[in-house]
Amino acid sequence: MADEPIVLGFETSCDETGVGIVRGHTLLADALATSMAEHERFGGVVPEIASRAHLEAMVPTVHRALAEAGLQASDIDAVAVTSGPGLTGALLVGVAAAKAYAMALDKPLYGVNHLAAHVAVDELQHGPLAEPSIAMLVSGGHSSLLLVPDLAQEVQSLGRTIDDAAGEAFDKVARVLGLPFPGGPPIDRAARDGDPEAIAFPRGLTGRHDPIYDFSFSGLKTAVARWIEARERAGEPVPVADVAASFQEAVADVLTAKAVRACKDHGVDHLVLGGGVAANSRLRALAEERCAAAGIVLRVPSPKLCTDNGAMVAALGSRLVAAGVAPSAPDLGADSSLPIETVSR
Ligand code: KG4
Ligand code: ZN
Repeated sequence: MADEPIVLGFETSCDETGVGIVRGHTLLADALATSMAEHERFGGVVPEIASRAHLEAMVPTVHRALAEAGLQASDIDAVAVTSGPGLTGALLVGVAAAKAYAMALDKPLYGVNHLAAHVAVDELQHGPLAEPSIAMLVSGGHSSLLLVPDLAQEVQSLGRTIDDAAGEAFDKVARVLGLPFPGGPPIDRAARDGDPEAIAFPRGLTGRHDPIYDFSFSGLKTAVARWIEARERAGEPVPVADVAASFQEAVADVLTAKAVRACKDHGVDHLVLGGGVAANSRLRALAEERCAAAGIVLRVPSPKLCTDNGAMVAALGSRLVAAGVAPSAPDLGADSSLPIETVSR
């Protein structure tokens, strides 16, 4: 509908500078700049480098988003920004930019939760979210299982990783296999030629007395490293495809089993996936299979919307505007450990 508010969204919680524009549930623009290549040789995101890159990319990325949407800044009705969780210095760049645009345009500002935004983005592709839904967010920085009764104001945490994030495990395993960073895509590709049952890697926190909805990937990562070391010590070649496939299977197995269990336990028949790891082909296929078997409707945004972007923040902003949630105060700050229960602040 043409009279729905146009929302400009800023995302700078990690290494992606994202500026998105939506009208209601319609995606108008999704401009992205990334400092990924600058972190590659460190094998992980360096906060200072990310902050500086956001600063340099910010204004050009806003201009690209406006051009892509065919809009002027004065057409914007509201501004949304990730105010946490994430890297403090990186978040601050986005918050400062969003405040400046909101103030200059005299429009309301909404500081939003990055994780809730990962859920909201699916509405741009698949329409209004069924509520309640279960959401599983798996990326390089987070692994969370959420119960979402009302995305605009009530999100509950069911479980999270107790050590590494799922994407972090992909990145670390790729490193020991000699594959490039970020490790998810090359492992996904290598696994296509491998046997997922070649090596029985451990499934973290799946014992009878373990927390049902929490994740642990550090033991799996160590098991893979040990397995490779043993092969190398024995002077045998490392079957990269089999290791990749078996590791990927262990991650996908645990994630999908816990997500489906959460749906069943809470009587919820809609599951949404998000975060960079949701781009994984085996995770998607296994989730599809297990959800179908359990009568659960699975919603997964396209890979481009699964990874960090500005459109997801604009999408959540749009939800908040529609729900009549109060905007943020002008002294909005960044909170690196913003709890998931705080959808906006
Ligand atoms: O959501 P994202 O872009 O950024 C944050 O970390 O917030 O997620 C990046 C993570 C990286 O760890 C990357 O290795 C992983 O997502 N990833 C994948 C795939 N594509 C990206 N992991 C597994 N399979 C993939 N196809
Ligand atoms: Zn993210």
